[in-house]
Amino acid sequence: MTKPAMRVAVTGAAGQIGYSLLFRIASGEMLGKDQPVILQLLEIPDEKAQKALKGVIMEVEDCAFPLLQEITAHSDPMTAFKDIDVALLVGARPRGPGMERKDLLSANAQIFTAQGKALNAVAKRTVKVLVVGNPANTNAYIAMKSAPDLPKENFTAMLRLDHNRGLSQLATKAGVAVADIKTFTVWGNHSPTMYADYRFATVGGKSLKDMINDQDWNANVFLPTVGKRGAAIIDARGLSSAASAANAAIDHIRDWVLGTNGEWVTMGIPSDGSYGIPEGTMFGFPVTCADGKYTIVQGLPIDEFSQACINKTLAELEEEKAGVAHLL
Ligand code: NAI
Repeated sequence: MTKPAMRVAVTGAAGQIGYSLLFRIASGEMLGKDQPVILQLLEIPDEKAQKALKGVIMEVEDCAFPLLQEITAHSDPMTAFKDIDVALLVGARPRGPGMERKDLLSANAQIFTAQGKALNAVAKRTVKVLVVGNPANTNAYIAMKSAPDLPKENFTAMLRLDHNRGLSQLATKAGVAVADIKTFTVWGNHSPTMYADYRFATVGGKSLKDMINDQDWNANVFLPTVGKRGAAIIDARGLSSAASAANAAIDHIRDWVLGTNGEWVTMGIPSDGSYGIPEGTMFGFPVTCADGKYTIVQGLPIDEFSQACINKTLAELEEEKAGVAHLL
């Protein structure tokens, strides 16, 4: 028997990431090859953006995806988010010329306040929300705060791209397959301050840290490479990462919905106070997922170097939070 369709909203659907994301959702890569989907796509009301969205929809239709039951275009989050099971909040205000960080935070605060309120009003109570648009952690925090009737656990921010970037760098350094690296994580903010932590990682049961055995490489090559990868891609491609970001979003939701079989992944989630991270702070943690829920991996020892890295990324997040407090 066919399952009932799941409704997935994607914002910024006519943008770069949207173009890499929609086809994969419709083909079943995110929610399963037996899961019908309905796509509800949101773009700004601007005529050019809506026209571009129509064009993308025409292309999705031309793929004749068997799992895609319906695809609709919206300019209002109140209709785009109606009865949705999953929200991928990709659209955000990019930093324009001469724009200061506080202007960027406040432009995005307006978007994510409005979208949080709309989710609160019309989405399913079980909606799973992933914020991709930057600054992702703070935007997710704003959306969560603007949706008081939804469980706060429903709101997450994307650190999976940082996680995947870290895995790939580690696999190359150690000369092992990405798939063989277990129990790796990234703590904190999706920004260059994130702390990619392979102290617990293993390959075939052996410690990856012992295999690499190079703290200088960790501090001076690995962490800056992962942290500044986004900027390196903009420099090389002239555009920000899009296909890899879409891929990470697919990974994040797929694992959250379908489970990780005990394996660790990284999700930006509202802290429950674990590891001394203040409750409610949207922070990258190691988690496992089962039955549609994530659980923070507990009891990991945090050494002095790691604590300093975690403190740095936390301080940045607290500063961002303080910068938008008056808007909430
Ligand atoms: P893009 O500029 O190509 O597309 C963004 C789209 O969002 C545009 O079509 C725009 O019209 C739309 N949009 C803006 N405000 C909106 C609103 N209020 N409602 C609906 N749509 C809206 O940008 P791209 O490359 O697709 O990136 C999207 C966001 O993802 C950016 O903020 C980028 O910084 C972020 N990003 C996050 C990553 C992460 O790891 N968390 C990785 C890469 C990008």
